[in-house]
Formats: sequence, C-alpha cells, structure tokens
Amino acid sequence: MEATLPTSSEKRLAPMPRGQHWLFGSFLPVRNDLLNFYTRAFREMGDIIRFRGLPGLYWHLVLHPSHVEHVLLRNQQNYRKGKVFDGPIGLITGNGLLTSDGDFWRRQRKLMQPSFHRQALAGFAATMTEETEKLLPRWDALAAQGAPFDIAQDMAALTLSIAGLTLFSTPVGEEADAFGRSLRLAFDFVGFKMRPTLPVPLWVPTPANLRFKAARRRLDATVYRIIETRRKQLAPPPDLLSMLMAARDEETGAGMSDEQLRDEIITLLLAGHETTAITLTWAAYILTQEPAVAERLHDEAASVLRGAAPTADDLRRMPYARMVIEETMRLYPPAWGLPREAINDDEIGGYHIPGRTLVALNQFLTHRHPDFWEDPERFDPERFTPERAAARPMFAYFPFGGGQRVCIGSQFALMEAALVLARLAQRYRIRLAPQHPIEFDTMFTLRPKHGVQVIFERRA
Ligand code: HEM
Repeated sequence: MEATLPTSSEKRLAPMPRGQHWLFGSFLPVRNDLLNFYTRAFREMGDIIRFRGLPGLYWHLVLHPSHVEHVLLRNQQNYRKGKVFDGPIGLITGNGLLTSDGDFWRRQRKLMQPSFHRQALAGFAATMTEETEKLLPRWDALAAQGAPFDIAQDMAALTLSIAGLTLFSTPVGEEADAFGRSLRLAFDFVGFKMRPTLPVPLWVPTPANLRFKAARRRLDATVYRIIETRRKQLAPPPDLLSMLMAARDEETGAGMSDEQLRDEIITLLLAGHETTAITLTWAAYILTQEPAVAERLHDEAASVLRGAAPTADDLRRMPYARMVIEETMRLYPPAWGLPREAINDDEIGGYHIPGRTLVALNQFLTHRHPDFWEDPERFDPERFTPERAAARPMFAYFPFGGGQRVCIGSQFALMEAALVLARLAQRYRIRLAPQHPIEFDTMFTLRPKHGVQVIFERRA
C-alpha cells in the first residue's frame, strides 16, 4: 500500500506498536516488565514510539540522541519533570532540588552549585577513602575464608555512610541504626510509588502508608535536630550542610530556611547514595566478567598508588578507573529512564508531540543504540578515551541527565566511584559466586535483583 504523506496542516503521528489492549493499551506490559517491553518496541519500531495507556492517554518513548538533546537541552523550556516524577519523589524530598521547579528551583540551584564544584569536593575525598578503608578488614577476612558475600549490600552501606559524613558529619549506618532503616524504608516506598499502581493517597491508613509516614517523621526529627545543633555551633564542620547554610542569595542576602535545608539534605541523600552504590556494584560485577579489564585496572592502581589508599590527586593519574566507571554506567545506568512532560505541543523527529503528555527518555536503550555504539553489548572502556567520547553525539550518553537539570552531584559520584573501585581492584581479585543469577530490578534505579554474590581473593 502506498503511504500517504501528511499535508502541512496534518499532524504526523509517531508509530505505535501493534497488539495494544483495547481498553488498557500498554498498561499491563508496562506494569509487568517495562524495560523488556521498551526494548522490544525499540527493536521493532525505532527511535520514537507512541504508546497508549487508558483510552485517549498517550505517551512517547524518545531514543535518538538528537531527540534526547531536543528535550533536555535545545527545547528544554518546553519540558518539565511532571507528576510522574515529582509526585512520588516529592513525598520524601518535599521541595528539594530534584523536584522543585521554576524560579524557586533556579534560586536553589544557584545557591547550591558552588558546593559541588570539583575543588569544593576534593576535601571529601579523604572521607570517601577512610570509609572504604574501614571495610578492608571485613573484605580481607571474607577473602581469607573464600566466603561469598553480596557486594551490593556493602556498597550501599559504604555510600550511605560517605553521604552521611560528607553531608552532615553524621554516621548513618545502613541497617544498624533507626535513621538508616527509615531511609531505606522511605526510599523503597518512593520506588514503589513510581510504578504504575492504583493511586492510593497518603492519607489512606494502609500499612504501607503508615510505615512510610512513621519513617518520614523519624527522618525529619533527626535532620531538624542536626540543623538546630548546627545553627548554634561556632565552628561548624566543613561538610555540605555547612556550605548550604552559609550560601546566600546574591540579591537578597537571604539563606535557606530550616525546612529548605531539610528538603535539600534528604534530596541529596536520596539522589546521591544509591545511584553511586549501584554503579560500584555493577563495576564489581564487570570485574568478575572481564578479567582483562580487571588486570588493567589493577595494574594502573598498583603503579599509581604503590599499596597506599588513593587520594583525589591520584585520580588524575588513573584515567582507566574513570573509563571503567563511565562504561559501567553506559551498560548499567543507575538512573535508567527520565520522564518529562511536554508543556506545549512540540514536534520531535517530524512527529507531533501533544502538550501535557509524557515523553520518556531512556538511558538504558540510548546507551545501547546500535547506530551510535559499535557492538553495543560489549563492555569496552576504550569508548571513553577523550577522542572517542568527543566524536560521539553529546546525548548518546547521558547517565547524569542533561541541560539545566543535569545532576549536580556528578563530580561527587565520579570521584567516589573511582576512589572505591581503584582500591578494590588494587587489592582483590573478584569472582562471581557459582550459579549466582544476575537479573535487573527496575523498580526505581537499575539494581541487580538478587544482589551480586562475589568471592574475593587477596592479591599478593
Ligand atoms: C552515579 C551516580 C549518580 C547518577 C547516575 C545520577 C543521576 C542523575 C540524573 C539522571 C539526574 C537528572 C534527573 C532529571 O533530570 O530528571 C540527577 C539529578 C540530580 N542529582 Fe544525581 N546522580 C548521581 C549521583 C548524585 C550524587 C552523588 C548527588 C549528590 C551528592 C546527586 C544529586 C542530584 C541532584 C540534587 C539532582 C537534581 C538536580 C536539579 O534538578 O537541579 N546525584 N542525577
């Protein structure tokens, strides 16, 4: 059949996959297995795909780097995060940087940006290394016994304690104390709420809602107590909270209120610790699968560090560690999808995008796009040499998002991940425990569903 080209007044609609349910559209496959559903759709339909939810409700999956650039950068003023994102996350972060919008967000971002500059962050490298050193006796003992353990849990505990110390100089153990437990419970609840489920408002006294509210109350009480103590301190410790408290609006001279500080602290905890833990967990998994990468990483760390723990300065001489982290986040992007809402009608790749509809970006699929990545499933850190990175379209790779809402903590995360990974590769050989299954849990971030059971062997 001959295709009819639309006239200039007609809106060209993006292709839809066949076989959508007459009533629920794509709701069920999205709910059951979003990543596989999107992967199949991408293979069958290409770079931009239209899906239907309930009758009359449409959304688009947008995967071509130049279209991603359109949404995140060139036409970013037409896209906001929208309810899918702000609703669930806002339950815990309030009006923090991740979920606020407009002038309020702009002011906060300006106030917070200087605290995340590379130089300001260098002071945190020592904390990152010290916390890693505390794990070494445990890892040495496990290595001596040849005992398998879940590295995902160790990484979660490590990045959480680093976050607690660098943010507000307070140790917050993963499971050991009430704060750590409340945090995990609250974050899991947010993950659950991000899935397409029946919208049960928070005021309905379901057990899950009640548990979440109790956890949030405990977190608030702790954070407000820390802020109150800090306001009275004459010589506050040099952490992110002190930097945020000292930040002043250029025009008005005003600082942040206690409530604002609370929202930002919880936001930074939420946005910062699990994403970095997952990156490190997948990187450790990669070392079990790619012996050549593990050896090269070890050689680099051994020659630069000569047995000592790494510093921020050492990282400059360890480019391979950074490339391994970057390639890990290509294949396993912790934030594996980014939802946006079109404010007004738009056109992407020649297709009509109606205003007030969802546009889903997806790092997992764009990072494996065969037109931009040769042999995309292969792990190859060489893709991240400066020359090869510069030769690619900017948005073929966007683990930290892009445009004005790009991750404020990217340098923090890259520094932390490289410091920990270098120490790991320098000291241990890592094997995957026999029969350990690796599957994705896409609930919120891209976690390994069953953790990653590894066996360490201490290097000579
Ligand atoms: C590997 C680790 C990390 C990954 C993959 C990651 C990913 C992202 C992504 C994709 C966004 C953009 C969200 C959007 O546009 O909708 C984002 C925003 C953000 N991230 Fe990260 N992040 C990481 C680590 C961190 C760390 C360590 C911190 C803080 C210490 C942090 C704080 C934030 C904040 C506050 C925002 C919101 C920025 C704004 O909207 O102005 N992130 N992150």
